[in-house]
Amino acid sequence: MIETITELDALRARVNGWKREGLRVGFVPTMGNLHAGHYSLVMLARQYADRVVSSVFVNPTQFGPNEDFTRYPRTPEADTTGLEGAGCDALWLPTVESMYPFGVDLAASINVPGISEVLEGAHRPGHFDGVCTVVTRLFNQVQPDVAAFGKKDFQQLAVIRQMVTDLAFPIEILGGGIVRESDGLAMSSRNQYLGADERPAAAEIRRTLLAMRDGIVAGRSRGTVEAEASRRLTEAGFAVDYAVVRRPDLGQPDEGEAGAKVALIAAKLGKTRLIDNLEW
Ligand code: PAF
Repeated sequence: MIETITELDALRARVNGWKREGLRVGFVPTMGNLHAGHYSLVMLARQYADRVVSSVFVNPTQFGPNEDFTRYPRTPEADTTGLEGAGCDALWLPTVESMYPFGVDLAASINVPGISEVLEGAHRPGHFDGVCTVVTRLFNQVQPDVAAFGKKDFQQLAVIRQMVTDLAFPIEILGGGIVRESDGLAMSSRNQYLGADERPAAAEIRRTLLAMRDGIVAGRSRGTVEAEASRRLTEAGFAVDYAVVRRPDLGQPDEGEAGAKVALIAAKLGKTRLIDNLEW
């Protein structure tokens, strides 16, 4: 039976009790409205830990002024049932007041320079400061041994890995594989914003990522591949923020450079902003 915890003292007592028994504690932070992608992270954390805590907190500091903070879907009952089914032991539900005791404007903020400023960071200024600020607080609250984040948010995972190394958090970070719908659309809480008329076109993101990989592997130039991807998405009805090929550290690869790559796309279909990526 999953235990729902709303007080920090109770969370600490539970986690300390497990640690005294010599149990390893896993953690999956979320903003709720959970789907199979989140549940796969709980199952991944379970492989590395004896107990798993998940948090649901829609974090105001990572949303821009014109973003969807107030309308972000909140589904607490379904989330609790789903987490229990996935094998989560405790659900941590902080309030905005307990997360930011001095208020959001006076909150100590964490900035990871460089990697936070490109791609998502350039299009959503301050977003990763908000993510790092809340993840730091959640890490201090839960004090897990291991924490799992989804690879769909490729840059978020990279930023968090850098933060954990830089600030010497004693936490192992796991990346969970992207879970997709049958047509290839990456699962996301934001997919439900898509209208029925928009939904079929959303699968074009995955097809474009595959074409980008194939183009680079076939030896075409990065510039040509990126331009073709943007054209293809625009023709399918998207407003493209970026469609790029990068190294895993998000640096720009030289022409013909060998080694691991990732294609990343962020694009809007109507009012819905979708992101996805493909590593090879
Ligand atoms: O990926 C998310 O859902 C959020 O960015 C996270 C990591 C829970 C922080 O609010």
